[in-house]
Amino acid sequence: MNEQQKTQQQVMKPTTKEHLERLQQLHNDATYEPPNLKKARKRLKKDVDIHYDFSIPEDMRLIGENQTYYIRTYGCQMNEHDTEVMAGLLSLMGYTEASEMKEADVILLNTCAIRENAENKVFGELGHLKPIKKENPDVIIGICGCMSQEEGVVHRIMQKHPFVDMIFGTHNIHRLPSLLKEAMFQKAMVVEVWSKEGDIIENLPKQRKGKLKAWVNIMYGCDKFCTYCIVPYTRGKERSRLPEDIIEEVKQLARDGYKEVTLLGQNVNAYGKDLPFDYRLGHLLDELREIDIPRIRFTTSHPRDFDDHLIDVLAKGGNLLDHIHLPVQSGSTDILRVMARRHTREDYLDLVKKIKAKLPDVTLTTDIIVGFPNETDEQFEDTLSLVETVGFEHAFTFIYSPREGTPAARWKDETPEDVKKERLQRLNTLVNKQSKKAMERYIGEVVDVLIEGESRKNPDVLAGYTKRNKLVNLKAPKSLIGEIVPVRITHAKTWSLYGELVTE
Ligand code: SAH
Ligand code: SF4
Ligand code: F3S
Repeated sequence: MNEQQKTQQQVMKPTTKEHLERLQQLHNDATYEPPNLKKARKRLKKDVDIHYDFSIPEDMRLIGENQTYYIRTYGCQMNEHDTEVMAGLLSLMGYTEASEMKEADVILLNTCAIRENAENKVFGELGHLKPIKKENPDVIIGICGCMSQEEGVVHRIMQKHPFVDMIFGTHNIHRLPSLLKEAMFQKAMVVEVWSKEGDIIENLPKQRKGKLKAWVNIMYGCDKFCTYCIVPYTRGKERSRLPEDIIEEVKQLARDGYKEVTLLGQNVNAYGKDLPFDYRLGHLLDELREIDIPRIRFTTSHPRDFDDHLIDVLAKGGNLLDHIHLPVQSGSTDILRVMARRHTREDYLDLVKKIKAKLPDVTLTTDIIVGFPNETDEQFEDTLSLVETVGFEHAFTFIYSPREGTPAARWKDETPEDVKKERLQRLNTLVNKQSKKAMERYIGEVVDVLIEGESRKNPDVLAGYTKRNKLVNLKAPKSLIGEIVPVRITHAKTWSLYGELVTE
């Protein structure tokens, strides 16, 4: 254990005798790193180091030969991409992917902590893993992702699910080979979670899920600290990758035949703020649009950092798609203030006006939380009216879920649960109505569709997405999978469009 890791150790409060003994044992064990939300909140000045020298330790290179892994991913695109990295690490160790969880030699749950129900799903899955471990004690079960960064969760797993072999966090997935080795040769649970974010490790292997669309991280972490949100604690401070590393990755994806990249960050508009030179998302997109790749998306945007230069660059079009996912969370300035979103309703509407002026065909989508502590009917009505004014074509809507360690979780909340549910329903009805209307506008139009494969519901039908992220189903030869083709839209449903290939 190095000096930095040593300082991260702290004593956790035991709740049972067994737990106390186990913790004592772990504290004597050099692999133990308890997560600490308070420390995760700290933002230190020190620059982040970038490493280009990653390799799998010599003695781990063949350890997975003739063995398989299975990773179940929960949560956002960031987690999906982390899973691709872990799959890349495992395949360099000789493992192949198992088609079913119960057949695998290594099982990882890459978890999400954003809302209580996300966590409940994982605890439910842990219940299913117990008999698997009982039947095959050699199987290695690991928990990683955002839930591992929470001290309460780590305690609960140690107490209630002692059959878990390893827990590691979001900052040290590159340590998977070593942790796996420890878990294989050690009886005790291996727990290594860093409360302070790690450096940027550049050349980690990736086993990408798709051959057409790829995720590209442009930054890690979040410094916004919205009062309801766990992400800044689980993902650490904002750290931008260097432009040249991102550009090279996208160029390589283009050479490999990828048709679309999605640039990822919790708040991509903050990209570059931590770089020692003046370079922001607008600059990056301006360079990326020169690369010969048909489609470039980015997510997620925060209204606060959406600058004019970025809008000007997006207006250049080309492979920069005019779909912006711009979470608003609430239409009430008072609620936005207690959420610490750092913008008002008017700021948001002004930004939308500016965007629409330069990008008249833009599709705007959003995230909304209803039932924030003590949200009044009036404040909720403000959200409905904002949704109508902006004309969002889609929204991810959530009932507020208190997250331990965040400021909002400590606030008394007088709004009854059934009122929150009713608000969610009203909001969804409105969003669905707008979504259907937006879809119907496409009828008769010809749109470019990137054909991704067979439709999930009907193998005789192909499916793909438009530039504005609308799902299109059509009958067409399978040889077109992977191509971008013109499609005339014939009818529309709330979530998808149907069309015919334009052949002339
Ligand atoms: N970084 C992105 C989103 C991250 S989480 C952004 O800021 O836009 C995705 C969405 O989950 C958020 O936009 C928010 O709508 C929702 N969310 C986050 N914390 C939540 C909580 N405690 N309860 C309910 N929804 C939450
Ligand atoms: Fe969470 Fe806010 Fe950061 Fe988004 S910007 S990840 S909602 S703290
Ligand atoms: Fe969930 Fe972590 Fe993403 S909490 S939404 S997996 S950043």
